[in-house]
Amino acid sequence: MLIRIPKGWEIPEREATPESAYYNRRQILAAAGLGLLGESLGAATGPYPAKHNDEFKVDIATTPEFAATGYNNYYEFHPTDKEAVKNNVGAFVTSPWAVEVSGLCNKPGKFEVEDLIKKFPLEERVYRFRCVERWAMVVPWTGFLLKDWIKAVDPKAEAKFVAFTTANKPKEMPGIKMAPWYPWPYTEGLRMDEAMNPLTMVVTGLYGKPLPRQNGAPIRIITPWKYGYKSIKSIVKLELVKSQPPTLWNKVQPEEYGFYSNINPKQPHPRWSQAVEQLIPTMERRPTLLYNGYEKYVAGLYNGKEH
Ligand code: MTE
Repeated sequence: MLIRIPKGWEIPEREATPESAYYNRRQILAAAGLGLLGESLGAATGPYPAKHNDEFKVDIATTPEFAATGYNNYYEFHPTDKEAVKNNVGAFVTSPWAVEVSGLCNKPGKFEVEDLIKKFPLEERVYRFRCVERWAMVVPWTGFLLKDWIKAVDPKAEAKFVAFTTANKPKEMPGIKMAPWYPWPYTEGLRMDEAMNPLTMVVTGLYGKPLPRQNGAPIRIITPWKYGYKSIKSIVKLELVKSQPPTLWNKVQPEEYGFYSNINPKQPHPRWSQAVEQLIPTMERRPTLLYNGYEKYVAGLYNGKEH
């Protein structure tokens, strides 16, 4: 896979500024010990930036915002060009937006995103994120725990998996027409214990702001110990089911994309060794970590047979 690294002079000022403004504001608030003022500013500007959770520190620098929001895999908007995705999201309407929760639960329903972000406590976590194509990043996601949402719908004991579905709107998502051979809509799934894991986030924000459309607005999933394709974007449906649900990539190439897809440097993808990762935008190489460094949270879920 070839990756074009943007030169410094190619980064428009409008993209470079917000992140530095964000960090400056945080630093100033922290330095001045004005935590309370910070909270009240937050209330005036909506839920972003949300309270930062310090438990999830990463020992490498946060990826610049322009890279995380300018180099995207989102096939519904462009099936091959990651840098074109952000230019193709203009017609995509993300508000209002409701997610239907159905299947094996006692309290199914339709949840408006604007209600979800009021109902569940939002927090910011900096996580590593790793695509199966080997590129990686470290970004601050804002969201809530999927566990809390699942508990709120009162799952039945027979619910063993959660199936997710992305919006399927060809008029707003030009990539769907460009690549009609994919079995749209994009679908993904997690086993119930993975969905309930305290790492699994329902994400609505990035870099202290609402989630950009190219990153999955208004609502997506993040599972940082799994390859990025498990982190499904712009979800409209969440279904609690009994058996392992089909997923788009598993349907297309089952030998390349297993259901579990846990990050593992020793398990090569048929087309890519997974021993190293490359951080965007510099493409600095680093060794891949088992479960992307999140072993202490997830190792107990597996017996080594899940792929
Ligand atoms: N979700 C949908 N609906 N469509 C996609 O094409 N791509 C996946 C995942 N979620 C994808 C998706 C892949 S391959 C990756 S690596 C991540 O989104 C990329 O997320 P990012 O653009 O926020 O970095």
